[in-house]
Amino acid sequence: MSLVAGPGRGGALSSAPSPQQLHTSAHVRYTQTLDKRHDEFEYWLTEHLRLNGLYWGLTALHLLGKPDALPRAEVLDFVLSCLHESGGMGAAPGHDAHMLYTVSGVQILALVDGFEELEARVPGGKEKIANSYCGLQDPATGTFFGDQYGEPDTRFLYGALNALSLLGRLDLVDVPRAVTYIESCANPDGGYGNSPGAESHSGQIFTYLAALSIADRLDTVDTEHLAGWLSERQVSVGESKGGLNGRPEKKEDVCYSWWVLSSLAMLNRVHWIDGKALESFILRCQDPEHGGISDRPGDMVDVFHTVFGLAGLSILKFPGLEEVDPVYCLPRSVTRKVLGK
Ligand code: FPP
Ligand code: ZN
Repeated sequence: MSLVAGPGRGGALSSAPSPQQLHTSAHVRYTQTLDKRHDEFEYWLTEHLRLNGLYWGLTALHLLGKPDALPRAEVLDFVLSCLHESGGMGAAPGHDAHMLYTVSGVQILALVDGFEELEARVPGGKEKIANSYCGLQDPATGTFFGDQYGEPDTRFLYGALNALSLLGRLDLVDVPRAVTYIESCANPDGGYGNSPGAESHSGQIFTYLAALSIADRLDTVDTEHLAGWLSERQVSVGESKGGLNGRPEKKEDVCYSWWVLSSLAMLNRVHWIDGKALESFILRCQDPEHGGISDRPGDMVDVFHTVFGLAGLSILKFPGLEEVDPVYCLPRSVTRKVLGK
C-alpha cells in the first residue's frame, strides 16, 4: 500500500554495491565539446533542441563547479540569435519560437547573469520576452498552451511560471487560476496527471509541484499521500536496483532521479527513498572514459540525462557538487541572486 513510506524507509535497499566515483573531469570535457561535434550525425539530429541543450549543458557545468567552462560571450550571442521580434525564442537561429525554448533562454540568461546585456543589446528585451507568455493561458481552465496551435500541457503551465518568475513578471498571468487547475488534476492515488482524471505521472508531478512552489501554494498538496506515491517509484530488484521510474510498472531511468527526487525535495521527503541505492544507480550510468550519463547502465550517454543525473546527485548532497534548486533545476546560487531569496 502506498502509505507505508515514511521516515526510516530509506535504507531498505542499501545492499546495492557501493560506488564508484563521479568522473567529474570527463563530464566537464564531454559537456564542453558537445557543440564541437559537427561531423557527428547526432549533432544535426538534435538541432531542434539546441537552446535546451545549452541550458542542460551549462547547468551541468555549474553543478560540476565549472561555471566558466563555456565562453560566456558566445553563450550570450547564441541565446540572442534565437530571440524573435515577438519576444519568443526558437531552438536555434531560424527556428520558430516556442515558449519551452524561451524558458531555456531565460534560464541561460540567469546562468550567465546576462539580463543587463540583454537590455543593452535589445532595449526592452526583458519585457518583450515576458510578454511572449501573455495570451497563452486558457481563461476557461487556467492552464497554458505552448503556442496558438497546440494542446494545453502541464509543461507549459510550469514553463510560463518558471520564466515569468525569473523575469519578475508573474503579475502578467492569473496565478490563482493556474493553481485551481493544478488542484483539479489531483488523483485519488495521491499523484497528479496531465489533465483532470489522467494517470499520475512523475514528470507531470514535478511540473505541478514546481509551479505550486513558485505560486507559494504547496499548502494545496496532500504531502504524505503524494510523497508515498513518489517514494514507491524506486525499483528494488534487478540490475537497475535503486533507480526511479516515472509510473508503476515502468522502467527506471536516470531522468526520473530528477523528476521524482526534486518533487520529494519540494515536499521535504527526500529521506523517504534509499539515497545510497539511487546514488549507486546514477553513478553506474556514467561513461567513465568519455564522460556523460545515460538513462540506464550501458546505454548511450546524452546531455539531458547528464544534467538530470548530476542534479539528482546534487539533491542527494553528493560531495563536490553545487547545490541545485529543485524548483528551477538551476544552481541555488543563481536563483538566489535572480529572485533575491
Ligand atoms: C517525462 O516525459 C517528463 C515530463 C513530463 C516533465 C517535462 C518537464 C519539462 C519539459 C519542463 C522542464 C523544465 C525544467 C526547467 C527542468 P516523457 O514524455 O519522457 O515521459 P515518459 O517517460 O512517460 O515517456
Ligand atoms: Zn529519461
